[in-house]
Amino acid sequence: MYNFMYSIPTKIAFGKENITRLPNFVKEFGEKVLLVYGGGSIKKNGIYDTVVNLLKDNEIKYVELSGVEPNPRISTVRRGVELCRKENVEVVLPIGGGSTIDCAKAIAAAYYYDKDAWDIVLNDSLITKALPIISILTLAATGSEMDIFSVISNEETKDKIGIGSEHLFPKYSIMIPEYTYSVPKYQTAAGTADIMSHIFEVYLNGREAPEIQKGFMESMLKTCIKYGPIACKEPENYEARANLMWTSSWAINGFISCGNEAPWPCHAMEHQLSAYYDVTHGHGLAILTPVWMEYILNEKTVEMFAEYGKNVFEIDKNLDAMEIAKQAIEKTKEVYRTMELSDTLRSIGINTKENFEAMAKKAALDGLENCNIPLKQKDIIEIYNRCF
Ligand code: NZQ
Ligand code: ZN
Repeated sequence: MYNFMYSIPTKIAFGKENITRLPNFVKEFGEKVLLVYGGGSIKKNGIYDTVVNLLKDNEIKYVELSGVEPNPRISTVRRGVELCRKENVEVVLPIGGGSTIDCAKAIAAAYYYDKDAWDIVLNDSLITKALPIISILTLAATGSEMDIFSVISNEETKDKIGIGSEHLFPKYSIMIPEYTYSVPKYQTAAGTADIMSHIFEVYLNGREAPEIQKGFMESMLKTCIKYGPIACKEPENYEARANLMWTSSWAINGFISCGNEAPWPCHAMEHQLSAYYDVTHGHGLAILTPVWMEYILNEKTVEMFAEYGKNVFEIDKNLDAMEIAKQAIEKTKEVYRTMELSDTLRSIGINTKENFEAMAKKAALDGLENCNIPLKQKDIIEIYNRCF
């Protein structure tokens, strides 16, 4: 067991009736809100009208920033900061998935930084303060609703960078599973693959996790494996949507990695796919993950994969450890296939290998050479090639 510091200041309001608490949450911090959202899904599923009516009924003023892109861009963050300053915004209220919440977090932090917002993405120690954030989650995936991270893309430099600061924890997160019923099958599958990857990055980092965290990770993986495919087939299955939503938060809120932090290889490799080709984050991870697993499977790592196979998929423990490990990786692929996620980079529109070297160079900079199971630039290029 290792030593650590741990605190999650975000207050969670889970379940439909909690939406009525929103005005009180806002009034704790101010009376003028920036509503942040993406391409319009929130207007179709009703949450937008519900929120706007609550704000109006409670005399809370609001301005809107719409059109946040999946893989949110720094240009949109800059627009948001300008709006906050011009309109004297006191609270930032994103309604959406990880992209919308991440964009809102970057706006909230850049508001207090008087130079260009991209600076704080390049160097998150410049974040000293942020406007209060109250998030309403509509897609179970990134865990942004309960974590310190924000991932922002720069379309000009082809960079996609994750930042982390305790100032970026939302003050409140409202989580209502019914508002995820409208998430299309593809995004449901990609979101589930993202949650699973957040767990794999810790579970398979080559270090022995404390028993309490190991069991929790296995339970969360089982939850995703059970409910991801169900939510894809039955979008209005409450148990499936609710379990995925709550798992999305706990997979990345810091609990499972207490004292056990290490670089995240699949995320480092995927962020380059998104930066260069604007792909869906979770789908990129679903393609990379099994190939990475096969790449790092050897005599030293076999026990780690065998544990995964026995405890998560209940593979016969009398089999040889290498056999269990291989079956576990095959079963992982099958989970993605069941949710109809394809398994090659070509299938997501990456038709050339020309950027692999540059992408691998940037991914390696994320500390991958220093992982317990190190990946050098040449290893990363090989993984991209095998995914192609
Ligand atoms: O544009 P809108 O209308 O919001 O539609 C979105 C978008 O098209 C749609 N959607 C969201 N909720 C919906 C819905 N459609 C119907 N009904 C609903 N209820 O789904 C599409 C994808 O949304 P997006 O927010 O992009 O997805 P996700 O939540 O997967 O976020 C991905 C972004 O988060 C970053 C990723 O890199 C990527 O940029 N990540 C953030 C992390 C964090 N903050 O901790 C960690 C992750 O590892 C990840 O890197
Ligand atoms: Zn992720």
